[in-house]
Amino acid sequence: MTKNILISGGAGYIGSHVAEILVKNKKNIFIIDNLSTGYKRLINKKAKFYKTDINNNKKIKSIIIKDKIDTVIHLAASLIIAEGEKYPKFYYKNNVIGTQNLMSACIGTKVKNFIFSSTAAVYKDGLYKVTEKSITRPKSVYGKTKLKAEKIIIKNCKKNKINYGILRYFNIVGSSPSGKIGLINKGDHLFKNLSIQTYKKNPVFKIYGTNYKTEDGSCIRDFIHVYDIAELHFKILEKIDKAGKSKIFNCGYGKGISVKSVVKEFKKYTNKNLKIIEAPRRKGDLVKIISSNDNLNKFISWRPKFNNLKKMVKSSLKWEKSLFHK
Ligand SMILES: NC(=O)c1ccc[n+]([C@@H]2O[C@H](COP(=O)([O-])OP(=O)(O)OC[C@H]3O[C@@H](n4cnc5c(N)ncnc54)[C@H](O)[C@@H]3O)[C@@H](O)[C@H]2O)c1
Repeated sequence: MTKNILISGGAGYIGSHVAEILVKNKKNIFIIDNLSTGYKRLINKKAKFYKTDINNNKKIKSIIIKDKIDTVIHLAASLIIAEGEKYPKFYYKNNVIGTQNLMSACIGTKVKNFIFSSTAAVYKDGLYKVTEKSITRPKSVYGKTKLKAEKIIIKNCKKNKINYGILRYFNIVGSSPSGKIGLINKGDHLFKNLSIQTYKKNPVFKIYGTNYKTEDGSCIRDFIHVYDIAELHFKILEKIDKAGKSKIFNCGYGKGISVKSVVKEFKKYTNKNLKIIEAPRRKGDLVKIISSNDNLNKFISWRPKFNNLKKMVKSSLKWEKSLFHK
């Protein structure tokens, strides 16, 4: 049974939630993070933290050996779509070369499982409901770097008999029910921006693209709560570890929600008039993407706890409010 787990990007939004669930399940957690977009306060108190870059191959290899790491969960990456379009070389270096370097540090050690956080952005645009076998043709630089990283992982894991789990997350929202961790970075995160605006005096919100061929003209996404995604890491890891299997999984609820309906739900919590600006489409945005969960449901038994728009909005707002007092 896996015991000593190294999380790259464990000081980030999702990594801190993964660490929290694994600690709760009695795993020993080790975190590596260069704190470029992560925060010290998100680092789990029970985890051992190393401030280092995933490209520091030598240091990471020595941590893996010293701490007897048997599983690596790789979340460290750059992930803002628009930023990737602007700085493609940097995205390639951090997401592709970074993954290659982290992977090489695992080879020849006791690491037997490798979990990778990939994204729905690897799929071809316009497919709508995607299975893991759907065509991958990333529209964005970010999606391209993640798909390249997947290929590096599959190739190296097969060659070195390491089990892999590639988790293609859909859109992650919300915060931990513990109230201790949540999303700090603004980035281009829909729920975060709406949460910030909800508590502003004169809330304004931009919807990018309102003339898509969807029911209400806005993009459609499969939002999944961060607690549920963190729990998926634990469940998939346990199964992969026990069964010695390697697989790719779509991780969403399998339900499409439009940007406009998210805005509508948030509006219920703004006592002033939320001003909506209909802005042009953004380069790199997919029109509509929804996860098919058949693969996931066949592999593990999973009952999501936050599969409901109201719950997801409330969870995001609760965290945003708590930030005022920190
Ligand atoms: N947030 C989402 O909706 C979403 C959706 C799909 C996939 N993902 C994937 O999930 C992962 C985590 O995303 P997040 O939302 O928690 O972002 P985040 O920015 O909060 O976390 C990323 C963490 O990685 C660290 N990091 C970045 N480059 C590093 C490097 N070279 N060396 C060491 N540490 C480094 C950052 O400091 C940060 O703590 C990413 O791989 C991302 O591609 C996220």
